[in-house]
Amino acid sequence: MEIIRIPRIALDTCRKHLLKGRSIGFVPTMGALHEGHLSLIRRSRSENDITAGSIFVNPMQFGPSEDFDKYPRDIENDIRKMRDEEVDILFMPDRSVIYPERFSTYINIGELSGKLCGRFRPGHFTGVATIVSKLFNIINPTRAYFGQKDFQQTVTIKKMVKDLNFNIDVVVCPTVREPDGLAMSSRNTYLNEEQRKAASVIFKCLTKASDMIKSGIINPEQAKELMLKAISEEALITDTDYASVYDPETLDEITEMSGDVLLAVAVQVGTTRLIDNVLINM
Ligand code: PAJ
Repeated sequence: MEIIRIPRIALDTCRKHLLKGRSIGFVPTMGALHEGHLSLIRRSRSENDITAGSIFVNPMQFGPSEDFDKYPRDIENDIRKMRDEEVDILFMPDRSVIYPERFSTYINIGELSGKLCGRFRPGHFTGVATIVSKLFNIINPTRAYFGQKDFQQTVTIKKMVKDLNFNIDVVVCPTVREPDGLAMSSRNTYLNEEQRKAASVIFKCLTKASDMIKSGIINPEQAKELMLKAISEEALITDTDYASVYDPETLDEITEMSGDVLLAVAVQVGTTRLIDNVLINM
C-alpha cells in the first residue's frame, strides 16, 4: 500500500494507473475505520483494478459547536486495517494542503442540502460536497463508494456528480449493522453502555414501521407517529431531530405512498447525534 500525503503525487500516481487502462475505485473516509468502511473497500476491490482510500477529518463539514475536535482519530489502526484490506493507495493529506491559506471555493448543492440533516447542520453538505469534489479531482476515480447509512450524503454526491459532469459512477452500499441492528458509526464510540443499549431503538422502530408500511397496515403518517412514539419512550434519547417518511429523490416528507420511500431518523443521545434509514422499494 502506497501512503500519499501530497495531492500532486496522488494525482500523478492515479493518472499513471488510468493511462494503463486500470479502473480506480475510491473510498473516501474520515478514519476511525469500522466494518461499515471496510465493506466499501471490499466492494471496491471486487469491482476495480486499483482501490484508493482516503482519510481526512474534514473541518469544513463540522459546525462550530460540533465534534470536530473530539472526532475519534485512530491513525495507526486505520493504516493497518487499510493495509489488511489490500488497499493500493491511501491518501492521507494534512489540512494545510487541502485548505491552504486563502482557500475560498465552495460547492453548494442547493435545495437538497437544506433538507433532513441539513436543517440541523447548516453548511454541512457544502463541506461534504467541497471536500468530495476536491478528492474526486485528485484521485480521478472510475467508481466511488458511499454507504447508505448517510443517505442524504449519497443523494448530494450523486447530484453534484450529475450537475458538474464528473465522469464517476457513484456506488451506494448497504448499511453495516451491529448484532442488535444499530448502524455502525465512528460516533458510536461516544456512547456509554446504557446509551448504546438505548440507541438500538432507532433501527427497531425503522424496521417495525417499514414492515408495516410494506404490508399495507399503515400509511406514512402513521409510520411517523409510530417511530416518534417508540423513540419518545426511550428516556436516554434526549432529542429527535426528525423521524419520518420521505421521497428518496427529493427528500421531501410524504404523507401518501407513491413508489419508493425512505424512512429516516436523526436523534440525539446525550451529546451524540445518530442517524439511520431504511429504503423501501415498492
Ligand atoms: P465517514 O463517516 O468516515 O464515512 C465514510 C463512508 O463510510 C461514507 O460513505 C459512509 O456512508 C460510510 N459508512 C459509514 N458507516 C457505515 C455503515 N455502518 N455501513 C456502511 N457504510 C458506512 O461520510 C464521511 O466519512 C464523510 O462525509 C466523507 C464522505 C469522507 C467526506 O468527508
